[in-house]
Amino acid sequence: MKLIVLNQKGGVGKSTVSTNLAYGLASVGKKTLLVDLDPQAHSTIIFCPDIPRNNTVAELLSNKSFKASDAIGEAKIGDPGELVKNLFIIPANIHLAITAEQITTKIHREKLLYNQLKKIETDFDFIVIDCPPSVNVLTVNAIYSSDLILIPTIYGRYSLDGIADLFHSIEDIKETSNFNYMILKNNRDSRNKLSNEFVEEQLTPFKKNLLKTVIRRNEAINQAQMNNEPVMIFDPRSYGAEDFKKLTREIISYGS
Ligand SMILES: Nc1ncnc2c1ncn2[C@@H]1O[C@H](COP(=O)(O)OP(=O)(O)OP(=O)(O)O)[C@@H](O)[C@H]1O
Ligand SMILES: [Mg+2]
Repeated sequence: MKLIVLNQKGGVGKSTVSTNLAYGLASVGKKTLLVDLDPQAHSTIIFCPDIPRNNTVAELLSNKSFKASDAIGEAKIGDPGELVKNLFIIPANIHLAITAEQITTKIHREKLLYNQLKKIETDFDFIVIDCPPSVNVLTVNAIYSSDLILIPTIYGRYSLDGIADLFHSIEDIKETSNFNYMILKNNRDSRNKLSNEFVEEQLTPFKKNLLKTVIRRNEAINQAQMNNEPVMIFDPRSYGAEDFKKLTREIISYGS
């Protein structure tokens, strides 16, 4: 299953969810490929101690004859880099921003990632794609490739602004209004009763598409990211680790 983590808003937890979910899936024996589609390379930083210059997602998108398997690396954590079982990554680096501009004018530009993943997807149980905070040719490629769209949202006044436009874009790209998506509530702080109620209320029309798992606000998640580790390694007993284990189980229940 190809699952993309998408939201045009910045800082809602796309990379946090991509990296921790990919790690969670791998840790229960699911062969998982994490694809970093963001020039900020936040997912890459966690699992590639040495960010490669070449053989990244940029080459994969810009060159049809590039072998997709050449971009896949084994995920490693820390320095010198301990291998993570069952987890693989197609990394990004800052040059992806230039590649994105270059491929914008290509024909069939929205299918570049789909066509490349087709060659390798049967090797994996899950492919998790971390998207940049925008709707551009990179996110269009991710949407076109996706079996399931996971939309993390945080608890704030503007958290759902723009979601209707996002859904219209998805409908256009997928040429159907019948696409699979799930909204994931992230960064919930139980002390903020009123703003939690406000957001829950706003989410009622999406009830069918809300994941049961909620990721609580948890400092361990933040610190794990600063430490370049998944939270399950940084602090296995934290709420963050607990919530991501739950999310992993729920995603597996939707099938591989
Ligand atoms: N549940 C949480 N508890 C505590 N901190 C969190 C939580 N979720 C995310 N964060 C923190 O919020 C910040 C933004 O998260 P993240 O980088 O995952 O967002 P993003 O949507 O990928 O951002 P961008 O749009 O820039 O790619 C990070 O510092 C991360 O550690
Ligand atoms: Mg990110």
